Amino acid sequence: MNKNSLTVTDNRTGKTYELPIENETIRAMDLRQIKENEEDFGLMAYDPGFKNTAACKSTITLIDGEKGILRYRGYPIEQLAEKSTFLETAYLVVNGELPTKSELDEWIWNVTHHTIIHENIKKFIDGFRYDAHPMGILVSAAAALSTFYTDAKNIKDPESRKKQTYRLIAKMPTLAAFGYRHSMGMPFVYPDNELSYAGNFLNMLFKMTELKYKPDPVLERAFDVLFILHADHEQNCGTTAMRTVGSSESDPFCAVAAAAAGLYGPLHGGANEQVLRMLREIGSIQNVPDYVKRAKSGEFRLMGFGHRVYKNYDPRAKIIKEIADEVFEVTGKNPLIDIAVELERIALEDDYFVTRKLYPNVDFYSGIIYEAMDIPVTMFPVLFAIGRTPGWISQWEELLLDKEQAISRPRQIYLGEDKRDYVQIENR
Ligand code: CMC
Repeated sequence: MNKNSLTVTDNRTGKTYELPIENETIRAMDLRQIKENEEDFGLMAYDPGFKNTAACKSTITLIDGEKGILRYRGYPIEQLAEKSTFLETAYLVVNGELPTKSELDEWIWNVTHHTIIHENIKKFIDGFRYDAHPMGILVSAAAALSTFYTDAKNIKDPESRKKQTYRLIAKMPTLAAFGYRHSMGMPFVYPDNELSYAGNFLNMLFKMTELKYKPDPVLERAFDVLFILHADHEQNCGTTAMRTVGSSESDPFCAVAAAAAGLYGPLHGGANEQVLRMLREIGSIQNVPDYVKRAKSGEFRLMGFGHRVYKNYDPRAKIIKEIADEVFEVTGKNPLIDIAVELERIALEDDYFVTRKLYPNVDFYSGIIYEAMDIPVTMFPVLFAIGRTPGWISQWEELLLDKEQAISRPRQIYLGEDKRDYVQIENR
């Protein structure tokens, strides 16, 4: 018998099956042969929330949740955060290798020269109400790009994919910043190609009447590192949406809109916004123990805590905590940091959180930094989406090039009514 296999006995029939194990996984389709009789459909695996289902093979990101390890293409997140830039990391995530100097120059040139959006998109963004959530604006505007770049439908053409990659990475900050300026009732600021990716984003957010915006180098670097930390995170909800929508061969703008919509929710990328609301609600350090007690009783969840994969400290949260001090030197300290640190301290000593391995995640400290930079909470998930765009694109391309992949179409267990005859309304 092959040692790399699983032997399963179906006690309904007494039959035994040998299922090959590859990469510590069995193929769900191998279960289909297990039948009670010939008419039987065959066994399926039931896995709501895909808690134990690998939907793809990937070479992009490794997370070791037990050890708190995150690597893009093999490079530890700590090294990239310290030594790389967001655009270099984006190149790595999308292309698989760190670029040479000339490859990087070309990449930066191409991204920088796709930052402008069509003037009609401005009108489109203007159509939103002043209090529209900027994430709703981003999702809609990203989908709208698909109507401006109809060549994006050529998903099988590598040159077209490359072009849409530049466009998406370049235009997401522009859409995000325009959404922000609209909500503030301020004129849009066009991209400045002389600035870095993060510096230009700050320019589009904050430029007022000065002729040339000069980003603060500490805040510029902080943004760049925050984008690096968010660049990819394997098969999370938003990325799964990207792959699912991409699997029907939609264009990448619509798929990114779907991914951003997945990210929007408070259990995912919207958690950073909720963390800030939570810290404000707690209000002071003295209220932390009572708040933790209420979370333990199931009244609500501690936002920014817990993760499907990490059962250890999220390495991104550790890096963000370090950046916070540097940012506060420039912006002044955000008093919410003291509440956050106390909340973390109490929770990490508490049996409820310890036994469930609930640690602070990436969203726990990022919002405190953003708030110190005067960015409204509703923008937080938008910032997450900008950073995540290279990850979405690279996961989408990996899916398209993977011969084993097919349109995403899970099965269900039907537990509804059996066939019944229509009853006229007067007889019901
Ligand atoms: N506060 C209190 N209890 C929690 C929390 C929390 N934040 N997270 C999980 N639990 C409890 C949960 O009640 C359950 O307890 P029990 O076993 O007694 O029923 C146990 O821990 C396991 O939770 P789960 O819901 O089965 O875990 P999951 O893997 O399905 O959910 C999660 C992961 C991130 C959705 C969840 O931890 C959560 O809701 N956290 C708060 C929202 C948040 O911070 N999300 C950001 C995630 S990181 C950024 C990103 O990549 O999206």
